[in-house]
Amino acid sequence: MPEPVDRTEGPRDGAGRRPAEPPLPRATSIAGGPVLIEGPVEIVLPDGEVRVCDRPVVALCACRRSLRFPLCDTSHRPRVRS
Ligand code: FES
Repeated sequence: MPEPVDRTEGPRDGAGRRPAEPPLPRATSIAGGPVLIEGPVEIVLPDGEVRVCDRPVVALCACRRSLRFPLCDTSHRPRVRS
């Protein structure tokens, strides 16, 4: 697992601001649904296999019901009876 980045240290400009940095990757947890991650991203599976997803947004299953785990296949949604 990568070490967390300490963003409190490092060089600053004359006004005490930190130089421009690339934005942090963002993950958004959807209530009752997946975690949306800005892609492209590498997903490390429990067995160590690495899958690359080059989509702009990747939905990771957080409910464990997906048939395409670790990707969300919308199985978290309630079924609609007809
Ligand atoms: S979060 Fe969508 S299938 Fe699990």
